[in-house]
Amino acid sequence: MSKTILGILASGRGSNMQAICNSIDAGLLHAKVGLVISDKANAKVLEHAAAKGIPAICIERKDFPSKQEFEAAIAQQLTLYHVDLVVLAGFMRILSAYFVNLFSGSIMNIHPSLLPAFPGLDAHEQAIAYGAKVSGCTIHFVDEGMDTGPIIMQQAVSILADDTVETLSERILAVEHKLYPQAIRLYCEQRLCIEGRNVKII
Ligand code: GRF
Repeated sequence: MSKTILGILASGRGSNMQAICNSIDAGLLHAKVGLVISDKANAKVLEHAAAKGIPAICIERKDFPSKQEFEAAIAQQLTLYHVDLVVLAGFMRILSAYFVNLFSGSIMNIHPSLLPAFPGLDAHEQAIAYGAKVSGCTIHFVDEGMDTGPIIMQQAVSILADDTVETLSERILAVEHKLYPQAIRLYCEQRLCIEGRNVKII
């Protein structure tokens, strides 16, 4: 079977991108990162990708008159690099229906809470402020909503009495780094079947 080509979109430090690359290097994931795109010129993820010899491109919203033209530029690069699966890894923008429809069923996101609890920004802070005893992370297919697409995998992480945003995010991040490559692997093995809101693992 040929390798699934991943296009990673990220805005920040890129630890999930690195975890995915490590899984590929360890032979656990039959995939190739075709390119990394960031909407932030100074994002660490671009440095990490370039250090690994992965094409690393910055596409900034401010350089386009409209959101659709910005997304079209991203889509153009993903197509140019023959991307099969778009992997959002800390990409801090909501993608419109236009973009989602271009890659329908082939965009994944990771979010640091057990969705539908605590969507959007500052998920760890939301969970602690709410007094939740459990949070975790969710990997889901992307639709045009914010963190609303069909759920692929979730794993719980306990919230401890003395947790801060830093300590909780560190423990959740360790789980993210294991779970995201697993979900991508299922996609690569064509074992994910979307039925409405339900993702069946076959
Ligand atoms: C992760 O916590 C992820 O769940 C969220 O953004 C963060 C990205 O971290 N969507 P990194 O850039 O992969 O280190």
